[in-house]
Amino acid sequence: EKGGYEHFMFKEIMEQPEAVRKTLSPRIKDGRIILDDIELEPDYIKGLSRIYIVGCGSAYHVGVVAKYNMEKLVRIPVEAVLASEFRYASPLVDASTLVICISQSGTTADTIAAMREAKKLGARVLSIVNVVGSVIASESDYCLYTWAGPEIAVATTKAYSTQLAVTYLIALVLAESRGTITSAAYASLVDGLQALPSALEEALKLKEHIQYLASIYFNKENIFFIGRNIDYALTLEASLKLKEISYIHSDAYAAGELKHGTISLIEEGTLVIAMASYIKLVDKTVSNIVEVKSRGAEILTLTTESGLNHVTHTSDNIITIPDIHEVLLPSLAVVPMQLFAYYVALMRGCSIDKPRNLAKSVTVE
Ligand code: BG6
Repeated sequence: EKGGYEHFMFKEIMEQPEAVRKTLSPRIKDGRIILDDIELEPDYIKGLSRIYIVGCGSAYHVGVVAKYNMEKLVRIPVEAVLASEFRYASPLVDASTLVICISQSGTTADTIAAMREAKKLGARVLSIVNVVGSVIASESDYCLYTWAGPEIAVATTKAYSTQLAVTYLIALVLAESRGTITSAAYASLVDGLQALPSALEEALKLKEHIQYLASIYFNKENIFFIGRNIDYALTLEASLKLKEISYIHSDAYAAGELKHGTISLIEEGTLVIAMASYIKLVDKTVSNIVEVKSRGAEILTLTTESGLNHVTHTSDNIITIPDIHEVLLPSLAVVPMQLFAYYVALMRGCSIDKPRNLAKSVTVE
């Protein structure tokens, strides 16, 4: 059942190209995104004033990536909110608000509560769910399934990737309807989406290199992740994945924020993992790398082929992912970070598929 692998988590990491292909390909027809499982009327889309994206854990982290991408493409305010916070924060929700609920299981109590609250306040709810027929899938106004197949490991990997893929589709459909994307930009993003499954296969080939990096760093007790924009969103997920399964304490920081306090925790030998895939901000992130390096940090940088020559002089080790459309970078950047968490946990002898104190689906508030 583990497909010959030692752990479900590793099997599920390896299944990502196929899972993303299954999620995307039925919804791309002749260069267009067709979401025929939902009916969002053009007038409704034009009348939207804001979008909330709610979820817990990694599903929330998908929302943080989507916030950056959707605001860029759709030009309306998008906020990612933890489901457990949403309900009690007097959210600004009315009929012109779209609430997107993300959940692998479709049964997470906090997300169910947020969904019901959003509906009560008059918003329509669009859910992104993996488990067919689950509570969130059936109670939401619209549901886009992530066709990831069953996910067994507690730490999510392929559900995260397919959720992210669905957010790109939604962003494209909204941007097209609202006229905020040119046809050339639309076409280039669709091309990128079509190339995504094979780019994921490329990214998975990094596994031996990541295993080597894990063997250097698995004894660290404190790790910082830094990044800007979509790379910052990625640090949240990379840090959570590592913490959840390896029990190493880590922190995710917006790269420019570190010097406003937490840089005091950087000392000789502290590992800083810099996510620098977004080429427009790579040099800004490099300045933050220099700040921590001069205080003794060891630097592992993740970048793209195009970013490589920007980071070589400031990094002790580098992970290079293939170039792809900038909106889609998080899909590739997360893969080496999942593998890193996996190998580090493996080398520390942790219970990878069932980390202590965690449940796959949390049905209490
Ligand atoms: C947590 C899981 O309890 O719930 C996370 O450990 C998951 O992996 C989160 O991301 C949300 O779960 P779901 O099913 O709503 O996506």
